[in-house]
Amino acid sequence: MVRVVSVLGLVMFSVALLILSLISYVSIKKDFIFTGPRYPNAAGGPRMYMFHAGFRSQLAMKFLDPAFTSLNTALNENLQDSSSWTFNRSAYEELSKEIAQYIDVPHNFTLTKSSVRVGQLMHYDYSSHKYVFSIGENLRSLLPDASPVLNKRFNSCAVVGNSGILTGSRCGAQIDSYDFVFRCNFAPTEVFRRDVGRRTNLTTFNPSILEKYYNNLLTIQDRNNFFLSLKKLDGAILWIPAFFFHTSATVTRTLVDFFVEHKGQLKVQLAWPGNIMQYVNRYWKAKQQLSPKRLSTGILMFTLASSLCERVHLYGFWPFGWHPQTGADLPYHYYDRKGTKFTTKWQESHQLPSEFRLLFKMHADGILKLSLSHCT
Ligand SMILES: *[C@@H]1O[C@H](CO)[C@@H](O)[C@H](O)[C@H]1NC(C)=O
Ligand SMILES: *[C@@H]1O[C@H](CO)[C@@H](O)[C@H](O)[C@H]1NC(C)=O
Ligand SMILES: *[C@@H]1O[C@H](CO)[C@@H](O)[C@H](O)[C@H]1NC(C)=O
Repeated sequence: MVRVVSVLGLVMFSVALLILSLISYVSIKKDFIFTGPRYPNAAGGPRMYMFHAGFRSQLAMKFLDPAFTSLNTALNENLQDSSSWTFNRSAYEELSKEIAQYIDVPHNFTLTKSSVRVGQLMHYDYSSHKYVFSIGENLRSLLPDASPVLNKRFNSCAVVGNSGILTGSRCGAQIDSYDFVFRCNFAPTEVFRRDVGRRTNLTTFNPSILEKYYNNLLTIQDRNNFFLSLKKLDGAILWIPAFFFHTSATVTRTLVDFFVEHKGQLKVQLAWPGNIMQYVNRYWKAKQQLSPKRLSTGILMFTLASSLCERVHLYGFWPFGWHPQTGADLPYHYYDRKGTKFTTKWQESHQLPSEFRLLFKMHADGILKLSLSHCT
């Protein structure tokens, strides 16, 4: 009897502890603030980061680690004066060469008519080997004759992630000034053009977007909406990773049928990467010790860009629910409806804070430029 009571007591104690720690986690997230240029500290001394005593984000832990002091300083500088960044061309070229040893970007960019045959069974990068997709005549007819980026070289590229940090950033004009603009997951631009720009040269399109935003093209209205969205892309590249997840199979067929029906009516260039993630993963794991269950689309786009561009600037890469300058709550995506709560669903498969830290270190080393502040 005594034992039962003591066990019960222990269980209740643990539950209480868990609730308490959850409450403190939530309040900590709210209290967190970096004192940036907008909030010079009262003493008038050198501007410094102040981390709330209990702040426990993975990022802050690493930044607080003395080994990351230089990174911390760089983040501070970035927020105060993003023009202080200088490009280290030789360091960038070194990285770009290294990536090219793992991934043949021009060829891995898309399957082509001659690289597959009708009836060929494709597997999926992130699904069990038992799942297959048979390449049909229709899909093959949509493949390009040659990779659209073969022998292409762009002077300046922007890779635009979808973080809520872009909301109110007014970076649109700056983003539009790059020679080539990469975007992720068919993110909307028109309504947000002041913050994210209007130009798109490539956007990724996970087939599941059809399900999520276009009701599987079940009605005439859905089909019209989708057609108009594609029309706005003009001659940009629609990069469709159809062979990453087996769950894409059904929507991929819907997508293929749609494109076959509208052949000749759209200028958008389709690109269909094959099973390329093994090469991409191998680079990030071997050279940068980064091996999440899944790399983000953003870092994948940076990987491609590194082989196609003379220099690469990143916008909208910030996987946290608060603004680094103001501490204000941020939505997860810049296009999330007002009031949408920051989600940490990505934690299941991605390691966005580790990716961010790595990319930010590259920023500090002058390899790429990562913009976090407002553009003026
Ligand atoms: C540029 O990067 C290289 C390493 O690739 C380094 O040796 C060099 O010192 C850097 N240059 C500057 C100006 O920081
Ligand atoms: C990707 O490139 C590698 C070489 O880096 C090549 O061996 C492989 O066949 C390519 N795969 C695809 C699907 O493009
Ligand atoms: C990028 O897209 C814009 C229009 O959005 C176009 O004017 C420009 O020529 C494209 N650049 C390249 C390199 O394709």
